[in-house]
Amino acid sequence: MSRTGEEGWERAIAGQLAAGLPVSDARFDRLLPAGLARLAGLHFTPVAVAVRAAAWLTAGGAGEVADLGAGAGKFCLVGAATTPARFTGLEVRAGLVRVARELARRLDLPRAQFVQADLRTAPLGRYGAFYLYDPFSESAAEEDERLDPWIPTTDREADVTTLLSRLEAAPAGSRLAMFCGLGGPEPRGWRLALRQPVNERGDLLDGWVKD
Ligand SMILES: C[S@@+](CC[C@H](N)C(=O)[O-])C[C@H]1O[C@@H](n2cnc3c(N)ncnc32)[C@H](O)[C@@H]1O
Repeated sequence: MSRTGEEGWERAIAGQLAAGLPVSDARFDRLLPAGLARLAGLHFTPVAVAVRAAAWLTAGGAGEVADLGAGAGKFCLVGAATTPARFTGLEVRAGLVRVARELARRLDLPRAQFVQADLRTAPLGRYGAFYLYDPFSESAAEEDERLDPWIPTTDREADVTTLLSRLEAAPAGSRLAMFCGLGGPEPRGWRLALRQPVNERGDLLDGWVKD
């Protein structure tokens, strides 16, 4: 395929999402480098879940949404294609940030931006809404199911506690969507406003609003 043909195919995905048309994960994940596409089903949000989560997060008026642990950017890219908000992905792995930025360029989605940052310490004050897909899940994953061996696994419980205590500082009315929860603890000071099973496994999309 010519370069122009490739770009047409890629940008058509963003156009279909913007038009409210379904895009399969198999098709979206073909955008990823092969090594990541193989692991996408384990680590990255399915397109249909990202569409729902982004719609709910922005329905409260948030202009800027943060994906805390953005991976290759799938949630932010889908969010930027389907809503008018700006999506910023915070991701600790530099290689994934590079992949995500390149995808935003190829899909022509400048409202999806990516920053290399540790979500346990990065400033969060500018965001009106947050998305989480279990950023610390790799601590429990088999070695061949990890995204790469570069990041030493950390203490999941301590990381979840740190993250939740940081989210306690969010202003009233902020929104937080979580796909598959965080393995037990719930965010303090946030009210559960949405709980939907989103696939045949019964995985949940939860939406919380800050009191
Ligand atoms: C399960 S993936 C979710 C990716 C993305 N949110 C999505 O749904 O497509 C979790 C991501 O969190 C990242 N991560 C883990 N610990 C992190 C930290 N302390 N700071 C920033 N990112 C982190 C991992 O590198 C991984 O890419």
